[in-house]
Amino acid sequence: MDKTARLDEIVAAHAGRDGPLLPILNDIQAEFGCVDEAAKRHLAAALNLSRAEVHGVVSFYHDFKSVPSKLPVLKLCRAEACQARGGEALAADIAAAAKEKCEIEAVYCLGLCSVGPNAMIGQDVHARLDVQKLTRLIESL
Ligand code: FES
Repeated sequence: MDKTARLDEIVAAHAGRDGPLLPILNDIQAEFGCVDEAAKRHLAAALNLSRAEVHGVVSFYHDFKSVPSKLPVLKLCRAEACQARGGEALAADIAAAAKEKCEIEAVYCLGLCSVGPNAMIGQDVHARLDVQKLTRLIESL
């Protein structure tokens, strides 16, 4: 199936829904690893929005990429509760191990503040991380 047909399927899956743009963008990001310019233009036409309206939403949320990531993405929480539990030192300590295995992105709270430091890979959240645990996770990617 070509990309245009798949985009049409994703849009159709959300037909009749109030405010379908974000769920459609989430599905496109999950399917293609990015929301590129062609997808933005296709969506604008399909939803009767301007390309600028679609671009405004895409550019507001950091989770939407314009090109797919080459490596798996590890989202490491850098917010206060995780910082207080050693998140900053953890980020520094695993930088070398992560270099060729994943892209590290800062996120600001994964909603599990009491069991930090936390990270997310794909849809999986990993809690109570220390250098050994996080290094093992990175090596498993
Ligand atoms: S501060 Fe890290 S999960 Fe909330």
